[in-house]
Formats: sequence, C-alpha cells, structure tokens
Amino acid sequence: MIVARRMNGLVRVSRLRISERVVGMAVLAWLLTAWVFPAQAQLRPLPGDPLPRLTPVEFELFRLGLDDFLEVEDAEEGLGPAYNGTSCGACHNVPAIGGISPVAGVRAGRVDANGDYSDFDSSAGSLFQLFSIPTHGCQVVIPAEANVISRRVPIPVFGAGLVEAILDDTLLRLADPLDLDRDGVSGRAAVVEDLATGRLRVGRFGWKAQHATLIAFGADAYLNEMGITSDLFPTEQSFGITPELMRICDPLPDPEDIEEPATGQRGIDNFEAFMRFLAPIGRGLIDDSVLAGERVFLEIGCAVCHVPVLETGPSANPLFDRKTVPLFSDLLLHDVATGDGIGQAAAEPNEIRTPALWGLRFRRPLLHDGSAATPLEAIRSHGGEAGRSRENFEELDRPSRSVLLTFLASL
Ligand code: HEC
Ligand code: HEC
Repeated sequence: MIVARRMNGLVRVSRLRISERVVGMAVLAWLLTAWVFPAQAQLRPLPGDPLPRLTPVEFELFRLGLDDFLEVEDAEEGLGPAYNGTSCGACHNVPAIGGISPVAGVRAGRVDANGDYSDFDSSAGSLFQLFSIPTHGCQVVIPAEANVISRRVPIPVFGAGLVEAILDDTLLRLADPLDLDRDGVSGRAAVVEDLATGRLRVGRFGWKAQHATLIAFGADAYLNEMGITSDLFPTEQSFGITPELMRICDPLPDPEDIEEPATGQRGIDNFEAFMRFLAPIGRGLIDDSVLAGERVFLEIGCAVCHVPVLETGPSANPLFDRKTVPLFSDLLLHDVATGDGIGQAAAEPNEIRTPALWGLRFRRPLLHDGSAATPLEAIRSHGGEAGRSRENFEELDRPSRSVLLTFLASL
C-alpha cells in the first residue's frame, strides 16, 4: 500500500513535472526575451545608454535631462552675450551624447616676473569665450599681454554619477601631498567650495578638479560655455564686458535658468539628472594580451595614479550604493609636467587631475590640451610625478610595450 501510494505519488510527481516542464519552458522563454537579453544589454550598456535598472521615475528624469542637454539655446533663452557653444550636446556628442567633440575651449592669463600666475579678471576667470551674439560689441578678446594661453578639450560625462558618488574620504586617503611614501608621486585632493551646499568638498570634475558635484559643474558650464545664468551662478561675467555693456548685450533678467512650470525642474537640475544616470562606457574585448597588458600597467606604476577601481560610498539609491567604479583614476591633482600654467580653483598652475581612462578607445585627441594624438604620445608626455613610470615604460621590451598598448585600447 505504502509502496503503491508512493508509486502513485511518483507518478503524480512525474506528471506534474511534465506540465511543469511546459510551463517552465514558457517561463524560460519569457525570461530570455524579457529579462536575460535586455539584462545582458544592460550589463554592457552602449555609449549613451542610461545605467541599468533605473526606476521609471529615474528614467523619466534621464529622458528630460537628455532633452535639455541637447536643447539648442538662443539669445531669447539667455544664450551669450559670450559663449563657446549653443548646447551641452554641441561639445559632448562623440561617440554618443555625453561624450567629447572637436570643440575646444581657450583659457588665458598672465605670469609676472616672479613667475606668479593671475587671471586678468578674477570674477570672469581664465575662460575666453570664442563667440558672441553679434550685436553691441560684446565679443570677448584675449588681451595682447596674455603670456599663458591654453586649449582645453572636453571630458566625457559617461558614468559621471558614479564618480560623484565616490566619498571625499576615499580620495583624501589616496592623496599623499608630501610624498611620504617616497614613490615620487604626490597626489593632492582638490578641496573646493561646493556652490550648491556651501560645503568644502573634494573636487573631481574638470581638468583642474574644479567641481565636486554635477549640479555645480553643469551650472558653471551653463554660464561659462553658454552664457546662461542660474541660481548657482547668478551673474553674467565675461572678460572685458562691463555691467553696463552687459545690460545692453543680454537684457534678460538673471537668473535666466528658472523652473519649468510643467516639471518644476531647472535646466541645471535636468543636466544633473542626465549626467547622473548616464552609464559608463563598458570595456572592449578582454583577451590574454589585454590581461598581460594590465599586469604591465600595474607593474610599471601607471596604476598609482590611474587607480583601476574606486568604490562609491553607502547610498539609499541601490544604483550608487557601494558600487565599484572601474575608472582608472585617483581623481587627484598631479604635476606630470604637462600643465598649462593656469591656476584654477584648488589647482596650482601646473597641476592636472588624473583623467579617467575608461572609454579611452572612444577619445582622441588626448591630454587636457589635445596635444597627444595617441595613447603612446600621451605616455611619452608624462614627466614630473609620472617620471618614474615613464622611464619604466621606456625600458619595457617590445612585447610588454605592445600588450600595454593593447590593454589601453580595451578601455
Ligand atoms: C564649448 C564646448 C562645451 C559646451 C557647450 C559644454 N561643455 Fe562640458 N566640457 C567642455 C570642456 C572643454 C570640458 C573640460 C573643461 C575643463 O575642465 O576645463 C568640459 C567638461 C565637462 C564636465 C566635466 C566632466 C568630468 O568628468 O570631469 C561636465 C560635467 C560637463 N562638461 C558638463 C557640461 C554641461 C552640463 C554642459 C551644458 C550646460 C556643457 N558641459 C557644455 C566643453 C563644453
Ligand atoms: C603621477 C600620476 C600619473 C602616472 C604615474 C601616470 N599618469 Fe597618465 N596621466 C596623468 C595625468 C595628470 C594626465 C593628464 C595630463 C594632461 O592632460 O596634461 C595623464 C594622462 C594620461 C593619458 C591620456 C588620457 C586622456 O584622456 O587624455 C593616458 C593614456 C595615460 N595618462 C596613460 C598612462 C600610462 C600608460 C601610465 C604608465 C606608463 C601613466 N599614465 C602614468 C597622471 C599619471
């Protein structure tokens, strides 16, 4: 009896298994199409994609932000009087929106007989906009006395939300301003006042690590690249344009960027959301020579500054909660003998923030001024604090050098 019951049970079980199998196959098929494939695409987002697994609300903010990032402004919206571009996207679009572009900005200042750097106008800073609304003589011109002039190429904003979520403490721990460990590398954390909160923070965005947050960088860019004032940067300022002239060239009341009635968001909030939720660029193919090249990168000291992975702090938002950020940067200021001579925010004239190397394969030219055409040329420009690792590079045998470059091409 017991056996029969058991057998019955078995029979029932196996029948159930058949119908379960049918259901299971359907579920599997559904999972494959509805979840696994998109999830795989999400694990390797394409350039320009949002971070995987945004909530619907976050996705909507990302979408609105993308719209605003692409919106071409004109004088009626507050563009100018002086500007470098008419939309964020005009300078951030290769290989997708958020990336780089051929448009470079120009900075200038002067160095006195003692070798000390100063801006011509401390409120307008060192940026000299290239264009102006062509009325009333509000074109900015670099003064003839300028003896420091430098180009700045754009920095992509892929993965910027993860970079923003790295704690100040993490960067402060990496810093070694007095080179106490005597490795020749002395990174400095760029301590800046965050305009959004008034707090001192560790800057991490921009070639000079001039801002700590995306809202502050976006508002700075809105004013300085496009001439649009906001709550964070409420005053128009461009070199040589007096307040009287400014009233004629750009009569719109400041701040120009005000809340949209429909969404309650300012332009700078939209830019912040777009950049925060924009995914980093995924790695290219990783094979044995890439892995061998990464070992060389670690061995010869590149990774002292181009730190392969940092981690975000704790966050209530799972997207940013203790996530690994494979950016290949310490986000600190270094003098690697490439500096432009322009002091800005917390950066000394010859300091540049270590650029992140993620997405390197989509980026040319290289270095802050675009002076290097290839990764090899960029490496050969390194001196100063990076002198030792540069020498190590020169001493590599051919195969090691070749795998190192293969590794860089995978980023
Ligand atoms: C004229 C071209 C131009 C325009 C327009 C422009 N940018 Fe940029 N962007 C740059 C350049 C050049 C840099 C590097 C600037 C620097 O560090 O001095 C940069 C850097 C950035 C960074 C720093 C990224 C990082 O990881 O360090 C952010 C963020 C940014 N831009 C956002 C914006 C936003 C938002 C807008 C629109 C309001 C905008 N940009 C408009 C050229 C431009
Ligand atoms: C002392 C810190 C330091 C070390 C060590 C170092 N770098 Fe850099 N690296 C920098 C800084 C700072 C820049 C930006 C310089 C500039 O733009 O003027 C840079 C720029 C680069 C760039 C160009 C990136 C871009 O987006 O423009 C590449 C590629 C690069 N480094 C690779 C390497 C490799 C490979 C090594 C090892 C041989 C190395 N670096 C060692 C600090 C360092």
